[in-house]
Amino acid sequence: MKFFIDTANLEQIREAADMGILDGVTTNPSLMAKEGIAGKDNILRHYAAIAKMVDGDVSAEVISTEFEGIIREGQELAEIAPNIVVKVPMIREGVKAISKFTEMGIRTNCTLVFSSAQAILAAKAGATYVSPFIGRIDDTNWDGMDLIYEIVEIYANYGFATEVLAASIRTSKHIKDCAMAGADVVTCPLKTIEGLFKHPLTDIGLEKFLADYNKLNG
Ligand code: G3P
Repeated sequence: MKFFIDTANLEQIREAADMGILDGVTTNPSLMAKEGIAGKDNILRHYAAIAKMVDGDVSAEVISTEFEGIIREGQELAEIAPNIVVKVPMIREGVKAISKFTEMGIRTNCTLVFSSAQAILAAKAGATYVSPFIGRIDDTNWDGMDLIYEIVEIYANYGFATEVLAASIRTSKHIKDCAMAGADVVTCPLKTIEGLFKHPLTDIGLEKFLADYNKLNG
């Protein structure tokens, strides 16, 4: 399972890359706004900076919601670097654009996916990745993980090449559950990735090992 970091913060991307476990980055307009990145030139420059920091894929999202605009924007984003993947919303015009990008050889991430029916459309259009949002489904008192299980099963039934990129990950348990479900990728905030390290018995065990060593060597 690949690990992407879900942020536009360069420092956090560097920290995750330094851990040696980072496979890529996802961003969205809200995450770019959180970093105060505004204006087309600044936005394109910021994506270029992120794309240089990792070898893996970097999702950059379009703002347009009609076909021509999505295609124009997507082409511009794809030109930034070979590891840029164009992130397109799950709307009718978006699916049409994903289909066109597939023909053009431009890789895509279909975002804002909340049902397996939508995930089927994304795969039919040839999306490179589909992004089901687990946490936001949990927020509505449904179980976001059910969606990951369903999509993984449907894609396996038909051999769809689209990779399941589990998004809106809020807890380390989400990451573990995605691994159980067979998601291809998880994208998470840095603190959620860091949560994977935690186990009190590791801390207690290490403290004891070092204390025993120091008794004779300290
Ligand atoms: O990749 C999508 C993700 O950023 C959404 O996360 O926590 O805003 O639901 P969240």
